Amino acid sequence: MTSSNDKQSIRSQLSTHYSAMQNIHLRDLFMHDSQRGKAYSLQLPSLYIDYSKNILTNETLSLLFQYATASRIEESIGEMFAGEKINVTEDRAVLHTALRSTVDQKLKVDNEDIIEKVHFELNRIKKFVNTVHDKSYRGWTNKPINTFVNIGIGGSDLGPKMVVDALSEYQQIETRTFFISNIDYQAIESIQRVINPETTLFIISSKSFNTIETRTNAETLRTWMQQTGCDDLSKHFIAVSNNLDAAKEFGINDENVFELWDWVGGRFSLWSSIGLPIALSIGFDNFETLLAGAHEMDEHFSKTPLEKNAPIILALIDYWYSNFFNAETHAFIPYDESLKLFPDYLSQLFMESNGKSLDLNGHRLDYQTMPIVWGSTGTNSQHSFFQLLHQGTHFVPIDFLVPLSKHGDKKHQAQLLANCIAQSQALMQGGNNPDPNKYFSGNKPSTTILYSELTPKTLGSLIAMYEHRTFVQGLLWNINPFDQYGVELGKKLAADIYKNLEGTEITEELDSSTQNLINLYKQSNP
Ligand code: F6P
Repeated sequence: MTSSNDKQSIRSQLSTHYSAMQNIHLRDLFMHDSQRGKAYSLQLPSLYIDYSKNILTNETLSLLFQYATASRIEESIGEMFAGEKINVTEDRAVLHTALRSTVDQKLKVDNEDIIEKVHFELNRIKKFVNTVHDKSYRGWTNKPINTFVNIGIGGSDLGPKMVVDALSEYQQIETRTFFISNIDYQAIESIQRVINPETTLFIISSKSFNTIETRTNAETLRTWMQQTGCDDLSKHFIAVSNNLDAAKEFGINDENVFELWDWVGGRFSLWSSIGLPIALSIGFDNFETLLAGAHEMDEHFSKTPLEKNAPIILALIDYWYSNFFNAETHAFIPYDESLKLFPDYLSQLFMESNGKSLDLNGHRLDYQTMPIVWGSTGTNSQHSFFQLLHQGTHFVPIDFLVPLSKHGDKKHQAQLLANCIAQSQALMQGGNNPDPNKYFSGNKPSTTILYSELTPKTLGSLIAMYEHRTFVQGLLWNINPFDQYGVELGKKLAADIYKNLEGTEITEELDSSTQNLINLYKQSNP
């Protein structure tokens, strides 16, 4: 039997099993197995993952593991780590794991020593960051730099911004870090108001150095710096890019351009030079610890059998919900202020990767792929959208994330944890009441991810776990998670419409709605 026949047969067994599972309530699964909580949990070096409150049994897992095997998950993981060109539509290797490799590892792709390149660039970052922190790097008026402004968007913004915010306790003393991504001038203005140009370093982060938002914002800020009297821009603008020529053309000195490579996807790039604002913000040593945390997860992912492999198990559960329960959405609720930007970061990671409808052979899929990713912090969200989670009509699997300890008042921490655990319990077991308005059906699945406290190491491990889960989802759906052609059309049309807004004529071939909207702009901006 071919692997595709195998997969078809297992899918049909899963389908039959799904029908049977519809008569089973999570509450009963817990009632019949007093060890369920621990049995369906994983202790990893930095994370504890309790997936027991998901609608599954040993039979479900056994079928899902068979599906994983038929989908060649373990072989594909090996291929990714070995640098094979698994990003088939762009003919590229996918090597964000090499960015957190140890220096003694060996990896050659197209005859290039990848590990050597990575560590060479890491050393350049280290040296640069240290000169800023020891105040030997100076601005145009000979003042030390204490403010970092990252100019980037998408993967060149969301990851570093989330990490800097999450690890704000580690921020170097007397420094501040800002992120400008949106092309909305308001974003620039609000930062201009609070920074001192003499002590500010701008990091232009763009893998392509071609992204309109980043280029426009960088040009505007370069002009602003000149207007404030800066007579040596090279001291205030550095760049991170794969397009070294374009960065140099912009006027960045060679020694201030930091490289990343085509085998690092934008949304997987925070471990590369794109992480420069992280290293500037929390110090190079902490950045290295973040990388070590990710490496720890890489070791788990690449060496653990699938039955105990966290990213694989979580991706299989995602597949189970998406393709059998028709889950159209997945919520991520961190009970941790430090992770308030995590849902935004995950939206790009999951949806830009797996929001696809063609398989690896270019055929249109007849099944669902990535659900919509959303979320917000607990306990705040309990007082907004949790009504829908408890009593609404949608099926919404949830990831809860919560630290076991945190500095500060213990009472707050215990309340935070109590609420997180209570919500997952309430969603799972439901609550009886003769009044239908006060009745909770329960049987609403969730996974709880615990960590002792959010350190650079824990965070590195957590992010890498989600990266690998994204990759495995793609394998299960037989799609390529590493391209993003879907973002291109809008960019092209925006360039055409911009010309219409700025010009005197309107392209006649445009549809009537577009013409009308352009006309309204012209009337408001005569
Ligand atoms: O438009 C999407 C995208 O290409 C993302 O994939 C990427 O992270 C982002 O834009 C930024 O791209 P760049 O780093 O090349 O400016």
